[in-house]
Amino acid sequence: MKKITALAAAMCICASVCAQRTPEWLKDACIYHIYPSTFKDSDGDGIGDIAGIRSKLDYIKEVGFNTIWISPVFRSAFEDGGYDITDFYEVDPRFGTNSGLVEMINEAHAKGIRVCLDLVAGHTSDKHPWFRQSMLADKNLQHSDYYIWTDGKEGGKPEKKFVDNDAPRNGYYLKNYYDIQPALNYGYAHPDPSKPWQQAYDAPGPTAVRNELKNIIAFWCDKGVDGFRVDMAPSLVKNDDAQRTGIKRLWNEIFAWYEQKYPENIMLSEWSQPQFSIDAGFDVDLIIHNGIGEKIYRPLVCQTTNSGEPTPCYFDKAGQGQVRSFAEAYAEVCDAVRGKGFASMPVCSHDIWRMNRFDRNTPAELKTVLTLFLTLPMPPIVYYGEEIGMRNIEDAPDKEGSLNVKNRSSCRTPMQWDTSENAGFSTADPSKLYLPIDAAADRPNVATQQADPNSILNYVKGLLALRAATPALGTDGTWKFVSDPERPYPMVYMREKEGEKYLVAFNPSAKSVKTDFAAVADGKAEIVYGTTDKARCTTSKGRTTITMRPVSAVIWHVE
Ligand code: GLC
Repeated sequence: MKKITALAAAMCICASVCAQRTPEWLKDACIYHIYPSTFKDSDGDGIGDIAGIRSKLDYIKEVGFNTIWISPVFRSAFEDGGYDITDFYEVDPRFGTNSGLVEMINEAHAKGIRVCLDLVAGHTSDKHPWFRQSMLADKNLQHSDYYIWTDGKEGGKPEKKFVDNDAPRNGYYLKNYYDIQPALNYGYAHPDPSKPWQQAYDAPGPTAVRNELKNIIAFWCDKGVDGFRVDMAPSLVKNDDAQRTGIKRLWNEIFAWYEQKYPENIMLSEWSQPQFSIDAGFDVDLIIHNGIGEKIYRPLVCQTTNSGEPTPCYFDKAGQGQVRSFAEAYAEVCDAVRGKGFASMPVCSHDIWRMNRFDRNTPAELKTVLTLFLTLPMPPIVYYGEEIGMRNIEDAPDKEGSLNVKNRSSCRTPMQWDTSENAGFSTADPSKLYLPIDAAADRPNVATQQADPNSILNYVKGLLALRAATPALGTDGTWKFVSDPERPYPMVYMREKEGEKYLVAFNPSAKSVKTDFAAVADGKAEIVYGTTDKARCTTSKGRTTITMRPVSAVIWHVE
């Protein structure tokens, strides 16, 4: 008996220890995020595809990325841009075929690029055959318990997130996001016996769904995929407690299996709460506009609230932003993940506005903000088109469920490759494009920027190369906010590894600014990168003083 207990305890320790391992390669990963419908169309139907991605691997590599994450490419009803899956085991014909995806992955690997897919673990489309079966009156079918259904409709919907419907089953189902996205049944953390739809973690339905999730992961990993970004990762187990024990239990179980079977593969979470996600076993948590991102991402770069109200942000010319919450919350994040994983703040995404928006639109402004994202101790994640400063197209039409509280089409318009028709994205008639291309005559494009040494693209390329060659600026270097958070312009942080020190300073505002802080070094400071060489960093009597021109970012090596 004792032996069994000891063995169980050892297994338990292994599960949690294993869950903290992170493959070595992730430390040097630079991730490029692709929204596949608008990256590159290879067959002229107006929608991007996998062959299109394949044709641009050299470009991706040349800029300095070594990993791609592609938003969902699986069969879908496309009522939420592919996040409403109808078959997890097959590539949607709009994007190509399973074998085409494998060929693309093989070619990417040959070029030294890893490929991550998007795992929509929490829900399916309501057109998914599993859900169609679960709608039937017979509740003893294979997929009857794959979703969360009330037994009957007496008393109305138990919670707002339950959806009324006319299924023969005669119950309400729980959704995860839109009504068309029924939640998969991973069970409830603490089921209430008076609510029969709240099944326990170990009940047959949730157990079958967890096994299905493993099958999906294994299916793609066996085809060569290097990892996944997990959509709505904290949403799976319902009615969780404050410590998130339910959802941690689930991910710990998945990771104990995943890390043994695919030790070189990674998982990124859409969670934005690294204090939970990394302990749950994720390698990287994405800090976006919610969760802790409310204190970090939003005040730095989001110029409007979710509902569209203008709000000052740090990286605005007006210079009305604050950095206090970034300085504090980002330090907390770094502490929470140190040695266990990473927290990456992506340069926008398919859900949130591009950097080039309203009056943040000049190359200098965009280079300034990009300097932030590429000098933090996290694997950088750059959404396609940000490396050339593509505009956020405010009036882009609603497409495939893009319109939730905000217009997500605005950041999903086609990639601009060159000056030819449709910006080289597609040979289709412009009326057939997934979304219209930025109509501005001076819209940025890759070809023009490749030829211009001062372009945003070449700035990003140079910065990624510097980062790759400079351990202190990479994921291993420490990060410390060194200027006074109460005097926001300029803000200065230090990156350091093994005595090599770099100061990174930002002045996004339209005014010249000056700050001083307790010296971190007492020798000379040399500018190694930035938007300008007209900035000063001097140290005397134990204080460092930095003077910066309007709209600039500078990196100094300090001794
Ligand atoms: C995630 C995705 C988003 C999608 C939602 C529902 O937040 O990033 O695009 O609409 O989940 O799957």
